[in-house]
Amino acid sequence: MTLDAPIQLHTDRLLIRDFTADDLDGMHAITGDPEVTKWLSFDTRTRESTADMLDGILSRQQDHPRSDYYFAITLETGGPDLIGFVRLGLGGVKAADLGYTIATAHQRQGYAAESATAMIDFAFDKLGLHRLTANIGPVNTASIRLIQSLGFSYEGTIRDHVFTNGAWRDSRSYSLLSHEWASAPRCEYCNRRIPPRTTGGRTPKFCSTAHRQAAYRARQRDE
Ligand SMILES: CC(C)(COP(=O)(O)OP(=O)(O)OC[C@H]1O[C@@H](n2cnc3c(N)ncnc32)[C@H](O)[C@@H]1OP(=O)(O)O)[C@@H](O)C(=O)NCCC(=O)NCCS
Repeated sequence: MTLDAPIQLHTDRLLIRDFTADDLDGMHAITGDPEVTKWLSFDTRTRESTADMLDGILSRQQDHPRSDYYFAITLETGGPDLIGFVRLGLGGVKAADLGYTIATAHQRQGYAAESATAMIDFAFDKLGLHRLTANIGPVNTASIRLIQSLGFSYEGTIRDHVFTNGAWRDSRSYSLLSHEWASAPRCEYCNRRIPPRTTGGRTPKFCSTAHRQAAYRARQRDE
């Protein structure tokens, strides 16, 4: 299945949406930040090369069938700033590569987990895909931790996978299958899927502390 632009996905805190031509400044604030791009498969970009990148994204939005779902992440409460990007690049048979980036100032607040969860739902439930992959630099601890917490399995290392920051870099390759995601437990408050834990321990009943607390308050009101 292919879905036309503009697409919007809503989560508790985020609006994840197709890029527009107005996003150049917000996009360059991220693509021009070496602290972010040192982990990506492209080098730090100038404003001009960011404009070329955005043009490519806007043009591929119009493809039929669409094979690139490259979305801007913004806060649901509004504000002009992009806080990151998330992408599904389709390839192979009912398969896509998942990518994500969060601006330095907004990291470690659960935004990557929240937007990746929405994209995985979108990939399996809306696009009908079967398999997702993620390819991550071997020392990118944050991204490896994130992908493991989403229930992806490690498949192996792709040697000299990308040429970035002046050198070849290996990637650790991870995958998630649709039935694995479908069998993930659901949050008792919002009914959204809770990524299966690969690190062991008890399966949580809620997708976030906020929802655990909201369920507790609702129970108290009902009693
Ligand atoms: C990787 C990245 C997207 C994570 O974004 P984030 O919004 O900070 O991540 P979250 O807050 O949703 O956290 C997700 C998990 O990663 C862990 N994590 C996040 N940053 C971390 C860090 N610097 N070190 C170790 N773990 C980290 C969190 O603890 C959490 O794990 P948990 O659920 O087991 O507690 C962000 O660091 C980033 O954009 N980095 C630069 C670009 C990049 O690496 N993109 C991915 C390329 S493969």
